[in-house]
Amino acid sequence: MVRAAITAVSSYLPDYVLTNKELETMVETSDEWIVSRSGIRERRIMKDPDKATAFMGSECVRNLLTKRGIGAEEIDLIIMATVTPDHQFPASANIVADSIGAVNAWGFDLQAACSSFIYALETGRRFIESGQYKKVVVIGSDKMSSIVDYTARATCILFGDAAGAVLLEPDTSGHGIIDSRMYVDGSGKKYLYQKSGGSLNPASIETVTNREHFITMDGQPVFKVAVIKMADVAAEMMQRNHLTAEDVAYLVPHQANKRIIEATANRMGIGMDKVMLNIEKYANTTSATLPLCLCDWESKLKKGDNLVLTTFGAGFTWGGLYLKWAY
Ligand code: UT7
Repeated sequence: MVRAAITAVSSYLPDYVLTNKELETMVETSDEWIVSRSGIRERRIMKDPDKATAFMGSECVRNLLTKRGIGAEEIDLIIMATVTPDHQFPASANIVADSIGAVNAWGFDLQAACSSFIYALETGRRFIESGQYKKVVVIGSDKMSSIVDYTARATCILFGDAAGAVLLEPDTSGHGIIDSRMYVDGSGKKYLYQKSGGSLNPASIETVTNREHFITMDGQPVFKVAVIKMADVAAEMMQRNHLTAEDVAYLVPHQANKRIIEATANRMGIGMDKVMLNIEKYANTTSATLPLCLCDWESKLKKGDNLVLTTFGAGFTWGGLYLKWAY
């Protein structure tokens, strides 16, 4: 049986560190409030106006290819998970392919808010399993600072910029992605969205004046559903695959709020020592959180480790994925 295995991971973080202390000078907030409600201490911001999502994704893929020792021309497919593409079109995947010289690849962008990366991983997995594709790059990249309103304290504290990427290759030795379950519930759309800029409310002087191109969020309803759904789908992965808490080497959760992550770990019956948690350093980087976690923990991972990945995002979208680490 051919499975899709992650054979390399990489990340890109902009240099600028925006601390809670600096946010205190921008909006009425406090380091204490931000840390206690979300677990976030700082986040990275891409300050260079000429660099955005595709740039960060390209840097990641260059690093990925170096780590794996392969050339860009060997890539078959690039899937770019993002909510902040450089342009509405062409897709940022195209820009990455051109920038890195992936002349034999095709690609596309995939958008499912904070679940973009797990949806993209699920999609990339199926291309590998088809037997036709040997090297699929899945990128999660977001320049969230481009859609964050830095006068809105309820949202501006939550997000950061970053990119992460994984290489998927065929595996016949029992490693790789074993199971997954994705969900969507569009009735949640009103709680977290970007009001304007799409075909329903195209950009106008009025939409810009009303700050409708920034993130709009009603945090509490999102929090309540996220706590339940992220935990449910992680538990579902364990039950379906007969995994006990001892069997799970790491939970790899989307990093939106430390309290949501703790609730998920609790539901799975696993201790926080087995949870990849880096929200403190990077905040919510939307499509980049899962590959950033894998990168930060890469040196600790062992071949055969059971990982459960789980996300929840706007839409609502959520998903869980179980894999056996392949290296
Ligand atoms: O990744 C995609 C999914 N997104 C999420 O999962 C985010 C889910 N939501 C959350 O994580 C939480 O709802 C937040 C961290 C965003 C907010 O935490 P909360 O405990 O739900 O706070 P709240 O929105 O209920 O606000 C409590 C109070 C309010 O004041 P009053 O009405 O009680 O007087 C807010 O106005 O805190 C106030 N507040 C702030 N105070 C200081 C809101 N933002 C801030 C702030 N600093 N930055």
